[in-house]
Amino acid sequence: MAEVERAHNRIYYADRGDGEPVLFVHGYPLNSSLWDPQVGALEGSYRCLVPDLLGFGRSDAPEDLDLYSVEAYAADLLSVMDDAGVNNATVCSLSMGGYIAFALVRSAPERIRALILADTRVEPDGDEARASRTAQQELIRAQGTAPVIDSMVTGPLLSDVTRASKPDVVERTRRIMDNPAPGFLGALEAMKKRPDSTRTLARINVPTLFLVGEHDAITPPGVAREMHAAVPGSRLVVIPDAGHLSNLESPAAFNGATLEFLGS
Ligand code: MLT
Repeated sequence: MAEVERAHNRIYYADRGDGEPVLFVHGYPLNSSLWDPQVGALEGSYRCLVPDLLGFGRSDAPEDLDLYSVEAYAADLLSVMDDAGVNNATVCSLSMGGYIAFALVRSAPERIRALILADTRVEPDGDEARASRTAQQELIRAQGTAPVIDSMVTGPLLSDVTRASKPDVVERTRRIMDNPAPGFLGALEAMKKRPDSTRTLARINVPTLFLVGEHDAITPPGVAREMHAAVPGSRLVVIPDAGHLSNLESPAAFNGATLEFLGS
């Protein structure tokens, strides 16, 4: 793992393989190992930069919630690219990673060569979603991260197919969620205050691939279809059998679509 210092906090990232760079941006409450199935498939032909976002994995996890926002995460990604000597990259993101990719489209479009947006949405949180994130923060402060991890792994995150027939993926998801509590709290804060990215779609002028799990209950296929319709020339691939973590639940289909897009 390489590391880069950002405002006194260290961000770790893996730098694997050679070729055109692909920067991977994980979702909540995960870390860089979310992308192991993709890095394994791509590193023979592409350079994979795989950071742990602030508060996750090996990166520092400060307690000050003001440090967490989609804009701050995006600035950290630019520091990772600078540290790696990478001018522009394909950005491959999932869910909260997509919220951060939209921030990157606004702040540094010239650093994005192409975009992969998986299982994400452009709308900000409504009142109900914000209240539920606040309740989650209170639960974490009172009882730690375990109840949240349990409810996510047994709840809407994974498809019924995955839960019923892929116990290894369920266990792996649990392991990838083993991150510091301040990282959970900070990401929830960042998601609560993230802006509306609907108009950001009109600013995308690079090749774009939307991916979505067939059974994604958090950001369903209809949401991906609407974003796809708003980005001329973009592609949309629905990943069979997968829920919200489409890259982990159906890696062969996810990797196939990604490799075809990157090669095109
Ligand atoms: C994620 O997977 O990053 C989260 O489910 C996104 C969210 O809660 O909005």
